[in-house]
Amino acid sequence: MKKFFAIFFLLSVILVSGCGENSGGVKNSAATGKVVGVAMPTQTAQRWIQDGDHIKSQLESKGYAVDLKYAEDDIKKQIEQIDTMIEEGVSCLVVASIDSTALVDVLAKAKEKNISVIAYDRLLMDTDSVSYYATFDNKGVGILIGRYVEDTLDLRHTNKTFNAEFFAGSPDDNNAHFLNEGVFEVLQPYIDSGKLKVPSGETDFNTICVLRWSTSTAKARMERLLQNYYADKKIDVIVSPYDGISYGIDEALKKAGYKVSKDFPLITGQDADLQGVKNILSGEQSMTIFKDTRVLAEKCATMVEAVLEGKVPEINDTISYDNHKMVVPSYLCQPVVIDKNNIDKELVESGYYTKSEINK
Ligand code: BGC
Repeated sequence: MKKFFAIFFLLSVILVSGCGENSGGVKNSAATGKVVGVAMPTQTAQRWIQDGDHIKSQLESKGYAVDLKYAEDDIKKQIEQIDTMIEEGVSCLVVASIDSTALVDVLAKAKEKNISVIAYDRLLMDTDSVSYYATFDNKGVGILIGRYVEDTLDLRHTNKTFNAEFFAGSPDDNNAHFLNEGVFEVLQPYIDSGKLKVPSGETDFNTICVLRWSTSTAKARMERLLQNYYADKKIDVIVSPYDGISYGIDEALKKAGYKVSKDFPLITGQDADLQGVKNILSGEQSMTIFKDTRVLAEKCATMVEAVLEGKVPEINDTISYDNHKMVVPSYLCQPVVIDKNNIDKELVESGYYTKSEINK
């Protein structure tokens, strides 16, 4: 009898402690009783940590429990994480992919189970299992980078020529292609007219791209370019699509003897990473693109809410993002150019960074 009561007690504890959780163990005391799975690519870049934090708090404030997972740029791990979220019965999935074409099968599984999928920042390719896409105007980012170079060097009017090299993002990230298109839309005419010379001759996307947006891969390529093409000349401009890539470029330049207050080239970037912003202040980088992760997270959380309430979310683009299976209805947020003149206004006054974080 004693044994029977002991077993009964144990079972009750297990059952009671199981309440308030979804089947996979995410605490779900959420007002709506629904769990949203959020799959993020990596914590090696600051922006994705901010994205994760913001989307989590936005969704929680709307009454959802959140299962937030990072896959550390491991494609297999991301597939497993999403698969587990589906098995555990999430109501909706928010996915920022590592490899945009690698999730087709797992997303088909989500569709089968009527779980809506929202692509976050990066488009999900080759799938009809995605409902909406929340992102920034990715080609617009490239256009802003190109125009910054055009304006800073006064390419429209100058008679000077400049030595330039180009870097692009990860080939498996659709954003990298859009951004690159924007850059070349603005700068190709100056390459054609000879105002921008590219001593390496490397302008083709497949040659200038950097797998996984890696700092060390970018550094290695910059070292090679400097050794092979700049023994007898200086480089004036380096078009980089991401602050993390710019850090690798910086390291290679310093190793080759370039000095900040003397002959450091114009270097672009993207993300307004804290280190990138500090590098702008110290002169190691010229500009970056601010993509306010608070705004993107808010837009995405509103999309999730609309979808789960059976409503149509706000969309401002229905033509640009063809993933080879469908044109994904999208909301594009607006990126902002940052250089040393507007760091305070855009990043400090808006509360994105504190003055002391930037000046540390
Ligand atoms: C994002 C960029 C980011 C890059 C590397 C891209 O998909 O749009 O903001 O710099 O990934 O993490």
